[in-house]
Amino acid sequence: MIAKVSELMEIREMSKEDLFQVNIIEKNSYDFPWSDKVLEECLEYNYDCYVAAHENLIFGYLISKISFPESHILNLTVDSNYRNNGIGSQLLDLTLSKSGLIGSKVIFLETRKTNDTAIYLYNKYEFKKVGIRPNYYKTKDGKEDAIVYCKRLDLSRT
Ligand SMILES: CC(C)(COP(=O)(O)OP(=O)(O)OC[C@H]1O[C@@H](n2cnc3c(N)ncnc32)[C@H](O)[C@@H]1OP(=O)(O)O)[C@@H](O)C(=O)NCCC(=O)NCCS
Repeated sequence: MIAKVSELMEIREMSKEDLFQVNIIEKNSYDFPWSDKVLEECLEYNYDCYVAAHENLIFGYLISKISFPESHILNLTVDSNYRNNGIGSQLLDLTLSKSGLIGSKVIFLETRKTNDTAIYLYNKYEFKKVGIRPNYYKTKDGKEDAIVYCKRLDLSRT
């Protein structure tokens, strides 16, 4: 029987050696990706950076700043070849749990208003829409709004 990706993968801290693949996934996933330098600095500045991986193969990553009293998710990306396998959800689960464990009361993130998959996922996790940043993101032909989401962290529910 062939194992599912979600059964094989583990979530672990991102290392410098992972950056090569992370940069490729980032560039393949966005019209306006984070630069190699920004991703490297996330590690250098001790942001909370996790990868979903099987040995050295990276499926996705989540970069956040987990702190007290609030945490922020900054980047959640899964390689397009492995989407819809629950990897994004598992990265979110880990970050919500870690944030709650250190006593974070609330977690914020934002997404493009046209990002249907991300909006679906954040609604599924009961994030609440708390604001709009008008014209926040560049698009190929202009700008688009960001939706700001927030989730109150209650350890008994995450
Ligand atoms: C958003 C993203 C991280 C989700 O990762 P993932 O590993 O596919 O997530 P999961 O498999 O855990 O969940 C995806 C869910 O979205 C649903 N979905 C897929 N395409 C969808 C669409 N077009 N509209 C609505 N929902 C959709 C899936 O059915 C699944 O829901 P289910 O588990 O209830 O069946 C991934 O799509 C991605 O990397 N996108 C590009 C980068 C990006 O936009 N990141 C978010 C920036 S805020």
